[in-house]
Amino acid sequence: MKIKTLLAAVLLAAPILSWSAPITIKFSHVVAENTPKGQMALKFKELVEERLPGQVHVDVYPNAQLFGDDTVLQAMILGDVQMAAPSLSKLQKYTDKLQIFDLPFLFKDLAAAERFQKSDVGQKLLMSMRNKGLIGLGYLHNGMKQLTANDPVIIPSDAKGKKFRIMTSDVLQAQFEAVNAMPLKKPFAEVFTLLQTKAIDGQENTWSNIYSKKFYEVQPYITETNHGLLDYLVVTSVEFWLEIPEENRGVIKKSLDEAIEYGNEKALAFDLRDRKLIADSGVSTIYTLTDSQREEWVNAMRPVWNKFSNKIGSDLINAAVQSNEE
Ligand code: LMR
Repeated sequence: MKIKTLLAAVLLAAPILSWSAPITIKFSHVVAENTPKGQMALKFKELVEERLPGQVHVDVYPNAQLFGDDTVLQAMILGDVQMAAPSLSKLQKYTDKLQIFDLPFLFKDLAAAERFQKSDVGQKLLMSMRNKGLIGLGYLHNGMKQLTANDPVIIPSDAKGKKFRIMTSDVLQAQFEAVNAMPLKKPFAEVFTLLQTKAIDGQENTWSNIYSKKFYEVQPYITETNHGLLDYLVVTSVEFWLEIPEENRGVIKKSLDEAIEYGNEKALAFDLRDRKLIADSGVSTIYTLTDSQREEWVNAMRPVWNKFSNKIGSDLINAAVQSNEE
């Protein structure tokens, strides 16, 4: 059986344990509504409620209103929330494999990441947390990450000794340690205040998050490094998923696939829009790297791959590298 067929069997045709309609899917996330993830979640709600009226209701909680990124997955396993779309960087507690997405300078752009995600190996990763009670229902894009800071950080030596907030990922920790910076793992909801109070010097994020959470208003310098990927995994619990009758599960999955496609279109549009909004605001200065400056970042951060190749698997890394070829 081909991997995609096998996954479809697990995702759609598992046995029903129990079900009593109407049900509510609580969808929790940490970003603003005017972001790719915020828009995807609202589209998902619209499609599911239109197609399963009176049977399935979706409540979307943005801006970490219900759970923060540090608590949502545990809450999901306990059944307190049914869906979330954490960034792939926040899943290391549940699998080593998804750490691949954090390797610096791995994917040249979102299209390469998408080719990898759609490949058989990428699809197989959706099931990599199954033994921990979680399944991935699909990938969603946000964008490539940029570096923001209090002072200009143009070449790796500028990062030395500076405190950067990171997501909960050992790869991201190693990435900042590789340039002698001080990484601090902190929830997304705390980032603005940490920056505003200068408890930290900088952070890495996409144009969409930098704009929608107003990080640029408290970070005078942004370097357009595109050094890593910030994408998401839409996650649910195995237990919840298996409780849904097969025909409804199919409708929910189809609605999610369509919502993801919609969210991915927004990701491309918001990346350009929010970069321009920040540039036009004149509040922070955007620095674009020369080829040789970029090369310095690549040379400094690339050794991180070796550190994690055993955990992630060199076959997987090679497959991701291949996805850069069109
Ligand atoms: C972050 O923590 O910086 C991001 O994962 C937030 C998000 O969900 O986009």
